[in-house]
Amino acid sequence: MSTHARMLDHVGQAVGWTPLVALDRLAAGLPARVAAKLEYFSPGASIKDRPALTVLERAEQDGLLKKGQFVVEKTSGNMGAGLAWACAVKGYKFVAVLSAGNTPERSQMIRAFGAKVVKVKQAKGGKPGLVTREDLELVEVEVQRLVKRLKAFRPDQFGNPASALAHEIGTGPEIWAQTAGKVTHFCSFVGSSGTMIGTSRALKNYSSKVKCFAVEPAQTPFLARRTIRSTQHIIQGGGYAVRPGIYDDAVVDGYLTVTDLEATRTARALASKEGIMGGFSGGANVAAALKLARDAAKGSLIVTVICDSGLKYLSTGLYAE
Ligand SMILES: Cc1ncc(COP(=O)(O)O)c(C=O)c1O
Repeated sequence: MSTHARMLDHVGQAVGWTPLVALDRLAAGLPARVAAKLEYFSPGASIKDRPALTVLERAEQDGLLKKGQFVVEKTSGNMGAGLAWACAVKGYKFVAVLSAGNTPERSQMIRAFGAKVVKVKQAKGGKPGLVTREDLELVEVEVQRLVKRLKAFRPDQFGNPASALAHEIGTGPEIWAQTAGKVTHFCSFVGSSGTMIGTSRALKNYSSKVKCFAVEPAQTPFLARRTIRSTQHIIQGGGYAVRPGIYDDAVVDGYLTVTDLEATRTARALASKEGIMGGFSGGANVAAALKLARDAAKGSLIVTVICDSGLKYLSTGLYAE
C-alpha cells in the first residue's frame, strides 16, 4: 500500500499516501474522534503537490504542455513549491507569481527548486502575511501578462478540474482506506477548493452519509454567503472571498468559520500536544474539526488535513517564543 516501502525512480512517486493520525489528546472527552492527514510529508511539504503533479500530467496527456515550455501560475506559495519541484523533475521552466504579502519561506523554497519568482506588490493598505482578494487581483494581472509573453502553460488551480481531481483520486480514496470506511465527516479550509471539492466528491461516492464542511475565516465567510467584515486574515492559502471555478455546492453540506486566534492557538496545541507542527490553515482545519466533534454523534470520525508545515511560517511568529 505505502509508496515508501520501495526505492522510487523520482520524487514525484513520493506524492500521496500521507499519514492519517488520530488527534486523541486534542479531542479528549469529545464524543467523536478527530484525525488529520499530514500533507507536509510530501516533497514540497504541502497538500498542493498533489494538484501540481496531476495538473501537469493531465496537460501532458491532453497535449497542452510540451517539452521545454514555460509554466506560469498564480500561487500563495504552496502550489508554487509543488509546481517548482515537479517542473524541475519533468524539465519545464517554471515562473511563480506571488503576492509580496506571502511569507518569504515560500519564495525561497520555490527558487531552491530552480524556478523564477515574481513578487507582486500588495494592494494599498496591504499588510505582510495578510493576502487579500485585492492582492490576488493584482497577481492575476501579472500572470495574464506573463502567460501571453512566454506562451506559457497555465495550470490555473482555481479553474482547472484536474486541481480537484488530484484529491478525488488521491486524498479521498486514501482517507476512505485509512479509516476502513469509518470516516463520517470531512472538513477543509478553502483556497482553490481543490482539496474540499475533490476529497468530498470521492468520500460521498463511497457513502452519501459522509458530511463535508468548507472552512472559512470568521471575518470572511464568503462561500457561506454571510456578511464579510474584512478580507484580511492570518490564514494563508485561502479565505480569499472568491468562488473558484472548480467549486461545487453539490458536495458541500455546510460551512464552518475559524478566527485568527483559534487557528493560531490550535496550531500551537497541535504541535505541543500531538507533535504535529502545521501552518495556520492546519490549525484552522483542526479547530473546525473539533467544533464538529463537539456536536457529533458518539462514534463519529472527523477527518481533516494539515495542509503544510509549520516550518514555512517561522517568520510569522506562529511559533515564536
Ligand atoms: C497552506 C494552505 N492551506 C490551505 C490551502 C487550500 O487548499 P485548496 O487550494 O485545495 O483549497 C492552500 C492552498 O494553496 C494552502 O497553501
